[in-house]
Amino acid sequence: PVKIAVLTSGGDAQGMNAIVRSVIRTALHVGAKPFAVREGWKGAVEGGDLIQEMSWSDVSDILHRGGTIIGTARSDRFREREGMRDAVKNFVTRGIDRLVSIGGDGTQTGTNELREEWSSLLEELVDRGEITREQADAHPKLYIAGVVGSIDNDLVGTDMTVGADSALHRIIDAIDAISSTAESHRRSFIIEVMGRHCGYLALMSAIAGGCDYVFVPEHPPADGWEDDMSRVLKEGRDAGRRDSIIIVAEGAMDRHGEKITSERVKNALEERLGEAARVTMLGHVQRGGMPSAYDRWMPTLLGYTATLELINSDGDAYIIGTRRNRLVKLPLMKAVQDTRAVKTYTAEGDYEAAIGARGTSYGE
Ligand code: F6P
Repeated sequence: PVKIAVLTSGGDAQGMNAIVRSVIRTALHVGAKPFAVREGWKGAVEGGDLIQEMSWSDVSDILHRGGTIIGTARSDRFREREGMRDAVKNFVTRGIDRLVSIGGDGTQTGTNELREEWSSLLEELVDRGEITREQADAHPKLYIAGVVGSIDNDLVGTDMTVGADSALHRIIDAIDAISSTAESHRRSFIIEVMGRHCGYLALMSAIAGGCDYVFVPEHPPADGWEDDMSRVLKEGRDAGRRDSIIIVAEGAMDRHGEKITSERVKNALEERLGEAARVTMLGHVQRGGMPSAYDRWMPTLLGYTATLELINSDGDAYIIGTRRNRLVKLPLMKAVQDTRAVKTYTAEGDYEAAIGARGTSYGE
């Protein structure tokens, strides 16, 4: 039977377990043999017990759990040729030549590199006597499919990355909790949310939470934002609003490339309004805990589609995602390169170009 491995790599995200479960059960359903690679690329490089054949019940009771039960890690060794070669050996000696990789753009790039180097690494392994010619010939190619798990919702070409919806729910819960205490004291709160390069979580939570002001990396405010923000908050208070909430994305910048930190916002407010403000950093709470309903059913469909895609693969590399609420196959490296371009343009302050790259067409 066909052997398919699944791994999770990079930062975790709620809903990764749903993908793992779906890949393993879909594989079993169609008569393939599924394997879990534990601890991300570290498991691929080290092999041994870290690459394990999986059964139906091995993924029972995980659909509702946050994180990834098969573990995730960054591996420096995988970045070197020797580490990659060990990964190829560990796969080929088990008869594995199909891989569903779950992670962000870094993970997908690594997976594609392994796919591109696969045949020359096989030759090196044969030359070194680490695998037989028969083993190499039996698995001439690595077939890959990627699914993007990232709470940041930062992959170009797909509507939602796995975990973003749950993180948004977590932030909204926090906003609701904070607004009740803020109302009691007539206070201003600054809530800092994740999203290194992408303001999705900040913007959507500000809208869904009915907040007063928001800072995102993609849209630095005009100079004088401190006065504008204070004016908006004061007008709200004058109109009878008892609480003020400002959302700051961790990657927010001003027009001069200076970070807009929560502390900076707090100081600006205190100076202008003459009242104490409070800061809450939500941190990794956003990335942990139970996945939302969406982050259970959607990853299930993505894992199912990725597995079937691998079994019938034409040899090209795809990311399985959603576009306009439909499941789609995106050319893996195009989606990764467009995502990188958005990050680079944003970091360089070329916001028009960043927005252009984010809106790249995928042929529809
Ligand atoms: O990439 C996802 C993300 O949640 C970012 O928004 C955040 O900056 C980062 O992970 C923090 O991750 P870690 O603590 O694992 O380095």
